[in-house]
Amino acid sequence: MAHKANTGTVPAFFNDILGYSKGYYASYCEPLSAQLGGAEELNENKNLWKSARHALDYLKQADSIPHRAEGEAVLLDCVPATASRILDLGSGDGRLVGLLKLERPQAKIIAFDYSPVMLKALRRNFAADPSVTVVEHNLDRPMPDLGVFHAIVSSFAIHHLGHERKRALYAEVYSAMAPGGVFCNLEHVSSPTPALHEHFLSQIGISPENEDPSNKLLDVQTQLGWLRGIGFVDVDCYWKWLELALLVGRKP
Ligand SMILES: C[S@@+](CC[C@H](N)C(=O)[O-])C[C@H]1O[C@@H](n2cnc3c(N)ncnc32)[C@H](O)[C@@H]1O
Repeated sequence: MAHKANTGTVPAFFNDILGYSKGYYASYCEPLSAQLGGAEELNENKNLWKSARHALDYLKQADSIPHRAEGEAVLLDCVPATASRILDLGSGDGRLVGLLKLERPQAKIIAFDYSPVMLKALRRNFAADPSVTVVEHNLDRPMPDLGVFHAIVSSFAIHHLGHERKRALYAEVYSAMAPGGVFCNLEHVSSPTPALHEHFLSQIGISPENEDPSNKLLDVQTQLGWLRGIGFVDVDCYWKWLELALLVGRKP
């Protein structure tokens, strides 16, 4: 799949990250067997994202995930240009933070992650931008009180949490949102059938054996139902390609 994301004019740090990854890869990585802990099944508690190798592997191929730029473009359209406090959940190296900043240079953005590699990349990439605050936070734990936000966003991160934790996090997001605020979760969701799941994997060039054991995929409708039940309005799936979906809700 040679689909290259078109992110327009992006900050130079996006060009840097591959070199950064290569430089740290050899010394930082741990054996895959150690990451997997000897077990190969999907596991509700397994999350490999604190592993340097796992994080670096993702960063190397993040741009080539098919259609992601389409989902990101719709997400960016959903976040008002006037949003002045934004929270990004599971920021990685700051890909979404950088995109949000292109048209909202004044916005204050807080970026959560817990992977040492991602936190290091985030801090480096936004070292010169005092409007971006990087916070080490494990999304499995309740969100710290950091005031209210006009937008809370996330990209391909929440599906690494167990289902109950996803639902609890959505309620915490609602509580942390200013009235009128928008929640945009660009997410990896489950397929309705095993055949469609295999089709998705083939489309992104991953064999079933190499699927990320950290994934805890859940269908779109259940998640939209949760958002409505919590109190979000205008809840819908605003964009979808196979297992990539943008779930959006607004706090009235
Ligand atoms: C697929 S990457 C996506 C990164 C970034 N949002 C992007 O779109 O490029 C998933 C991110 O979620 C983070 N993550 C996974 N589980 C987490 C947890 N329990 N707490 C905090 N961050 C977590 C990982 O460290 C990683 O940065």
